Amino acid sequence: MATLKSRYTITAALPYTNGPIHIGHLAGVYVPADIYARYLRAMGRDVAFICGSDEHGVAIAIKAKKENTTPQAIIDKYNAMIAASFADFGISFDNYSRTSASIHHETAQEFFKQLSEKDIFTAQESEQLYDPEAQQFLADRFVTGTCPRCQHPEAYGDQCEACGSDLSANELIAPKSTLSGATPETRKTKHWFLPLDQYEGFISKWILEGHKNDWKPNVYGQVKSWVSNGLKPRAVTRDLDWGIPVPLDEANGKVLYVWFDAPIGYISSTKEWAAREQKDWEPYWKNSATQLVHFIGKDNIVFHCIIFPVMLEAHGGYILPENVPANEFLNLEGEKISTSKNWAVWLHEYLEDFPQKQDVLRYVLTANAPETKDNDFTWKEFQARNNNELVAIYGNFVNRVMVLTHKYFEGHVPPVGQPSATATATLEKMSAFPEKIGTEITHYRFRGASQELMNLARLGNKYLADEEPWKKIKTDPEAVAEILHIALQITALLAVVSEPILPFTAQKLKDLLQLPNISWAALEGQAELLTSGHKIGTPELLFEKIEDAAIEAQLDKLYNMNTMETPTTLPEIKEEINFDTFSALDLRVGTILAVQKVPKTDKLLQFEVDIGFEKRTILSGIAEYFDPNTLVDTKVTVVANLAPRKIRGVVSYGMLLLAEDSAGTLHFVRPDAEAENGAPIR
Ligand code: 2FM
Ligand code: ZN
Repeated sequence: MATLKSRYTITAALPYTNGPIHIGHLAGVYVPADIYARYLRAMGRDVAFICGSDEHGVAIAIKAKKENTTPQAIIDKYNAMIAASFADFGISFDNYSRTSASIHHETAQEFFKQLSEKDIFTAQESEQLYDPEAQQFLADRFVTGTCPRCQHPEAYGDQCEACGSDLSANELIAPKSTLSGATPETRKTKHWFLPLDQYEGFISKWILEGHKNDWKPNVYGQVKSWVSNGLKPRAVTRDLDWGIPVPLDEANGKVLYVWFDAPIGYISSTKEWAAREQKDWEPYWKNSATQLVHFIGKDNIVFHCIIFPVMLEAHGGYILPENVPANEFLNLEGEKISTSKNWAVWLHEYLEDFPQKQDVLRYVLTANAPETKDNDFTWKEFQARNNNELVAIYGNFVNRVMVLTHKYFEGHVPPVGQPSATATATLEKMSAFPEKIGTEITHYRFRGASQELMNLARLGNKYLADEEPWKKIKTDPEAVAEILHIALQITALLAVVSEPILPFTAQKLKDLLQLPNISWAALEGQAELLTSGHKIGTPELLFEKIEDAAIEAQLDKLYNMNTMETPTTLPEIKEEINFDTFSALDLRVGTILAVQKVPKTDKLLQFEVDIGFEKRTILSGIAEYFDPNTLVDTKVTVVANLAPRKIRGVVSYGMLLLAEDSAGTLHFVRPDAEAENGAPIR
């Protein structure tokens, strides 16, 4: 087991407040960080678990423009939503702040001033992209174009999401303003650059030499490749009207780059917390006895392993992160989670559909965490892990022990005499679990920790199954007393060591067992957690089976999301497209030959459509709106060149066009009865 430090500053990536959060966020960052923080607190360590909303940057300004509102209204809305989701899922931040808070503005400006006074920055005039229509400079996500590295046509001005390259707006091929669609001009403007190139030696020594063996290979590998490509100076100011003003007279009208201010948010959130708790914040950031750990997703590695550490080093007086255990990404049902395509499981919606089942999601996301590679969340696996592990192993064991204790000993922990060999062996195996689980957690192997936790419940289940107290009660009540005494110790240990992963269940189990407060740290060498004679409470089920219908409903919701919302007004006209984009669509006349409901779904209809030269299978999520029997022989408009898509096991080759009116009613777009099947529509 790693030797633990006495103090920990644990940070979790500050989420952008331009949308609610989904399971990918929880799995990648917040559940692992929370498990780590809860474990260290349980071990009696001094922990500051820090987070907050990331409220500056272009993503928020764009969202506000799209929704025709102000950035302030956007951040207020999503900050409240995100903070509520974290609280609902038991993410135990010591402080959740916002980068719009005045303490953050002050801290970020002081930080910048200190670097400026130390002459760290190089200030430079250069040609930057400018949108003449929107009359503003274009940086980051205000500009898209073709990636110079992989030719992806929709790379952003700061990053290409296809190949992961870090870009600057000037490098994009055929750039376009996302504000007006205009082709940008270039104009001269002055910016302040952090000279990362001067810190290559520092990064190489600290990470490449110093953390070769203890950092995750995905993190170490990314840093290595950055350094070997050569670090370049990076602009840390922007010409925008949303952000923290650069605290220099000559930088009037400019703001700090969001990735300069956001990580400083960890420091200001710590300050805010310390002031509230009447503590000194400095030991959490400036004392080498403190272990600083950043929990992030893989897209944030460069900022936390290179840029922020360089800022801390250049400033002076700060500790550096001991580890940055970045996770890979979680996909959903085989596809990338996407906010714009609504391909996500939103946390607030999950809780509406599965109230009180926070721990089920926490468990599934931990057991299947994308620790070493991208992983897939499927509703079937969610159901299987709940039914086969939480219900059948963990819940079943606890329930059997409690029910039998009530049945045979009126709810009292039975006494034990000289322990039998089996009892001693079982207690010994049981006592090894706190350290096994703790070791997994301190090495950032949260999947492993969840497996060990389930193995402890398995140990209990097997012990009961092997010892069969229900068979021995008539002939050997003393043996049964021993069996239940031991089994109750396992339930009590489960209550203590489940807390980091399953905090709601752990509390419920402690209440059911009427377990006195025992910290993890106090477990060492202590096998007797419930003493003979102690009265336990009335058994209640900890987990319940999730039926197929609930899973089917989630799948239906996911696949049919786009037709679910009933509009109350007609939507605005979408962004202008050019003629080429329009003519890329191949629309054809078709006739419906047959329709049937896709089995086990509520909303999916499967159509056979004649498009003249061939027959197509096409799926559509409109079963709620039409009686399939009335649709045969209907003329329809078919999108004939849409990529085939597998939905619930059936491949759909195209799409049927429907008009959705302001009352939410759907109407087929029907060509004239005489139109020939297969005729192109243009
Ligand atoms: O990727 C993101 O969602 C960023 N908002 C993370 C910021 S982490 C930090 F440095 F604040
Ligand atoms: Zn690219």
